[in-house]
Amino acid sequence: MSHVRKALTLFEKVNGRCFHPHWPLSYKSPNHLPPQTRLLSSISSSATSTMSNTAGLVIPCKAAVAWEAGKPLVIQQVEVAPPQAMEVRIKIKYTSLCHTDLYFWEAKDQTPLFPRIFGHEAAGIVESVGEGVAGLEVGDHVLPVFTGECGECAHCKSEESNMCNLLRINTDRGVMLSDGKSRFSINGTPINHFVGTSTFSEYTVVHSGCLAKINPLAPLDKVCVLSCGISTGLGATLNVAKPKKGASVAIFGLGAVGLAAAEGARIAGASRIIGVDFNPGRFEEAKKFGVTEFLNPKDYDKPVQEVIAEMTNGGVDRSVECTGSIRAMISAFECVHDGWGVAVLVGVPSKEAVFMTKPINVLNERTLKGTFFGNYKPRTDLPTVVDMYMNKKLELDKFITHRLPFSEINKAFELMVKGEGLRCIISMED
Ligand SMILES: NC(=O)c1ccc[n+]([C@@H]2O[C@H](COP(=O)([O-])OP(=O)(O)OC[C@H]3O[C@@H](n4cnc5c(N)ncnc54)[C@H](O)[C@@H]3O)[C@@H](O)[C@H]2O)c1
Ligand SMILES: [Zn+2]
Ligand SMILES: [Zn+2]
Repeated sequence: MSHVRKALTLFEKVNGRCFHPHWPLSYKSPNHLPPQTRLLSSISSSATSTMSNTAGLVIPCKAAVAWEAGKPLVIQQVEVAPPQAMEVRIKIKYTSLCHTDLYFWEAKDQTPLFPRIFGHEAAGIVESVGEGVAGLEVGDHVLPVFTGECGECAHCKSEESNMCNLLRINTDRGVMLSDGKSRFSINGTPINHFVGTSTFSEYTVVHSGCLAKINPLAPLDKVCVLSCGISTGLGATLNVAKPKKGASVAIFGLGAVGLAAAEGARIAGASRIIGVDFNPGRFEEAKKFGVTEFLNPKDYDKPVQEVIAEMTNGGVDRSVECTGSIRAMISAFECVHDGWGVAVLVGVPSKEAVFMTKPINVLNERTLKGTFFGNYKPRTDLPTVVDMYMNKKLELDKFITHRLPFSEINKAFELMVKGEGLRCIISMED
């Protein structure tokens, strides 16, 4: 049951620890890359040499600043300070909007932290690095991640965990770890960071342990979606639920995270993928993700777990919950087959929510797990997920339903509030 805690610890504070920067990276230096990659990489570093001219200087640039809860973001000039020890300043090329941005922007039932620069799903290029940073250079292509990998703590050393002690998500902190200060300001007034990434800015400063260095050939306008939601759903299925070929899998919630979980089930070779959602509008889209059957709990006068058990001769082999609703979490657990069924919780419930089920459901050899960022270690594992896309094993294009220029970022919020589409890619240069 300790895995259940994982999904519920999203809002816990970071336990400060000493940082040491040594751990393996997949793309170490241009000499380790194939010839074509080396060529592009050298073009890219000469192209970025202009960027490195700004090293050590404050960069004035455009950012979308949230001044008040639920009010449109204001695109304005901010000053971005140089990276300090163990930090990296990156030029954001593309960012997308995820539900977590919306949740903290709306700031319902929270202690609001404004002014703030939101954004955590993105892709960018290293502009300069701070003292002590190893394994990242100017011109490297990177995905910033809201949770990090220090490489040294008990979690980073464990094969089973990705919940780094030092760099675990902290939604309450608006400053950098090293000195407790913000790198963003407007006329001397500090602007708060968000989950250590703040990607709704042309330049941002991120802890080096929260940056995954990726294949420089990967298109940043596509792989940016791997820096949060898609990796979360995909990993929940592939790394945690682990369905066998031919298995039956139920997915609760057919938003971007749930559909990424379905994509994981498709890749694993599941024979039946049952999608469960209240919103019938999601069903047509879900077919593209390999979902074979649909259930709307509102269409039945009995609990949906009973409907699933009848459809599957006793229950599905695996289930993945991607809603944040306690009701769906209970259904997801109770719909798996006794003896071998595994249910995985991904959705983030409200802080006070309580999960209840009869202990006999567990005794009957069902397993309940939870996951955070799909159990991927961001620096070690994300480059491989990017390569799954490059090798055409993982499909990403179908998640991208909208594109907008940075100047229209508020429209991306409107789309998400209305529940339209899956991912909207915001181009910083348009
Ligand atoms: N654990 C993690 O690391 C992690 C990371 C990212 C997101 N999340 C969480 O994953 C969840 C899904 O994110 P998303 O962006 O796909 O959200 P989304 O809002 O786009 O999709 C959720 C879907 O669930 C459906 N739904 C809600 N209650 C339901 C119920 N009781 N039964 C069936 N369907 C129901 C909604 O109709 C919606 O289509 C959120 O709770 C989000 O906070 C977790
Ligand atoms: Zn760590
Ligand atoms: Zn996210």
